Amino acid sequence: MELLGLTLRNFRNYENLSLKLKPGVHILLGENGAGKTNLLEALEIVSALRSHRTRNDADIIRKDEREAFVEAEYERYEVKSSVSVTLQRRRGRVMRIGSGKAAVSEIIGNIKTVLFSPDDLMLAKGAPSLRRSFIDREICQASRIYLDNLMRYNGVLKERNALLKRIKEGLSNSDILEIYDAELAKYASLIVKKRIETVKELSNTAAKTVSELSGERENFEIIYSQEFSETIDEKDFLKLLKENYNKDIQRGFTGIGPHIDDLTFKMNGMSLKNFASQGQQRTAVLATKLSEVTFLKEQTDEYPILLLDDVLSELDENRRIKLLDFVDKKGITTFLTATDNSYIPENIGIRHYVNNGKIT
Ligand SMILES: Nc1ncnc2c1ncn2[C@@H]1O[C@H](COP(=O)(O)OP(=O)(O)O)[C@@H](O)[C@H]1O
Ligand SMILES: [Mg+2]
Repeated sequence: MELLGLTLRNFRNYENLSLKLKPGVHILLGENGAGKTNLLEALEIVSALRSHRTRNDADIIRKDEREAFVEAEYERYEVKSSVSVTLQRRRGRVMRIGSGKAAVSEIIGNIKTVLFSPDDLMLAKGAPSLRRSFIDREICQASRIYLDNLMRYNGVLKERNALLKRIKEGLSNSDILEIYDAELAKYASLIVKKRIETVKELSNTAAKTVSELSGERENFEIIYSQEFSETIDEKDFLKLLKENYNKDIQRGFTGIGPHIDDLTFKMNGMSLKNFASQGQQRTAVLATKLSEVTFLKEQTDEYPILLLDDVLSELDENRRIKLLDFVDKKGITTFLTATDNSYIPENIGIRHYVNNGKIT
């Protein structure tokens, strides 16, 4: 896929922007508050229908305006098309592919992106939910079936949790739980199987990158961890759900399943969360992000667009050069933000100057 252009209207501090794009590395330069991250966020929206900065569309709509619009045009197998998303203040979203309305499941996975921001440096250390959304976002871009299973799982889980609360308050009977369990167990099994398979692949690729980045001294591994439900089998999940009825009713939510699971990053056999130095964590996270890019290429036969938000200044020179080398040699379309030029070799990339919602 080749990205041809990006149009923004009333999106954050962009009133009206129309950018024509070529493949390659795009370097967005500008002061703090200029609108660099906003542009990456727009690409995230047409790709994943979500922003890493907010869950609230009203934040994105330009101040005092009623709606924001973002459209990305692209070409794939010599066919031109576009994805657009309109965010409306009170009436939700309208998504389109070309001129026809499109569903969530048609948009996600169409334009693929991998974002790497300073927040991701928390991936190894932060809350489990960060790692779950990392792995889910990754697989969803490669597999529509997984996306569908995940949406169904979350739907059933929400209903089951609501029911657990009603049972706790004496407003409902626990017999009804069974209705949800069969479906929950089915999707749990499918989701966990796919996650384990993916994590193995990511782990292998990332391990190679870590040894490249660190000169073969470190041994890196990513492991899928299921604290309360060590199974991939539907029947076992069903059994576990039943065994946990009382606990679940007490706490008012479902305490086992893929929504509780986590990833463990290990360096030389020890958990990164507790033991690794900051340098080791950065190496691990960078390697994991790059393996995400490789994974998507292997699964879908196309590289995602890589969005690098202010990460160059966070990396030491060796890692910075490896990263730029990686995107440059593989010809990965990349958007990279920086406040100054000094970290970026002159021969790399197309420079765009961002100032107050305008790009020159
Ligand atoms: N909804 C909005 N309407 C208008 N301006 C906004 C909105 N949201 C953010 N901004 C502006 O966008 C700017 C921040 O842009 P950002 O892309 O984060 O900057 P940076 O170039 O540092 O990455 C700030 O000036 C902020 O006031
Ligand atoms: Mg920024």
